Amino acid sequence: MLPSQADFPLTRFRRARQSPAIRALVRESTLSVDDFIWPVFVRSGAGIEEPVPSMPGVMRRSVDRVVEAAREAADLGIRAICIFPYTALEERTEDCAGAWDPENHANRAIRAIKAAVPEIAVMTDVALDTYNINGHDGFVEDGEIVNDRTVEALVRMTLAQAEAGADIIGPSDMMDGRIGAMRAALENAGHHNVMILSYAAKYASAFYGPFRDAVGASAALTGDKKTYQMDPGNSDEALRLIARDLREGADMVMIKPGLAYLDICRRVKESFGAPTFAYQVSGEYAMIQAAAQNGWIDGDRVMMESLMAFKRSGCDGILTYFAPAAARLLSKPA
Ligand code: PBG
Repeated sequence: MLPSQADFPLTRFRRARQSPAIRALVRESTLSVDDFIWPVFVRSGAGIEEPVPSMPGVMRRSVDRVVEAAREAADLGIRAICIFPYTALEERTEDCAGAWDPENHANRAIRAIKAAVPEIAVMTDVALDTYNINGHDGFVEDGEIVNDRTVEALVRMTLAQAEAGADIIGPSDMMDGRIGAMRAALENAGHHNVMILSYAAKYASAFYGPFRDAVGASAALTGDKKTYQMDPGNSDEALRLIARDLREGADMVMIKPGLAYLDICRRVKESFGAPTFAYQVSGEYAMIQAAAQNGWIDGDRVMMESLMAFKRSGCDGILTYFAPAAARLLSKPA
């Protein structure tokens, strides 16, 4: 319950809005460079930085260039970077063996970043989609995405990433039982401090379109992901998933996509008080960039306003392609 307010003119709300100094003093939520995890796309080769057409300003980089980008991010004060591999159609297989290959370009990027920029936390993606010929996050048998055999593969993938030096494992696959299996395997292997940020409430969303271009999954994907990702009509289910993943050993939880699901962020933070992240996904980024490029909105201001919305909704942090741009703006005196 909010306390009652004195009537006008004892209360004048505009008093608290009269100047930048007063507005800053009474601001309830703040945005800082500490809030960001920056997702980056890594590909094979060397010296390569190729633009992703559906995500203006976003690049696919070869390992050497990802290391340079991590250095720049750390110099901007960004604390964490999240590695997503791009895999060409001809590199994909039905058994997805590339996913747990210690020498795949994601694992090489993890090792290279930890060697060159040890102060930045490295997060990973655990799911089979970028290695799978059909673009699904799990193995497909007779047209069905099978759960338990997929979890075994995800555990192998997790261990390879932890071995490569990952700080935070990011399961984005939405299989059941994977958090418990991953946590047990990490503990067994002595990786007690490797954290799990579970994509616990991940919706089957059309906002992922540009990402699937970025990782090469659009061409591959057959059908949709509705048998494992959540129905956008559901909210209680998100709480049950978060409770389950925390019980299985998730250290942090994520809601994805972001802006269209801020109600979920709020409920999750209030219900569990666990470290809560939102993913401002590719489609959200692309919409803002497209409108800004057309001169229809002020891109910088909409970027900052959208990021602030996550903090106001209760999130502790945000995975966002805007991380470097927002960090640059935040470092300028207001
Ligand atoms: C797949 C994965 C997806 C994203 C992150 N991991 C796409 C999907 O589920 O199809 C989306 C990220 C974004 O849109 O920015 N494991």
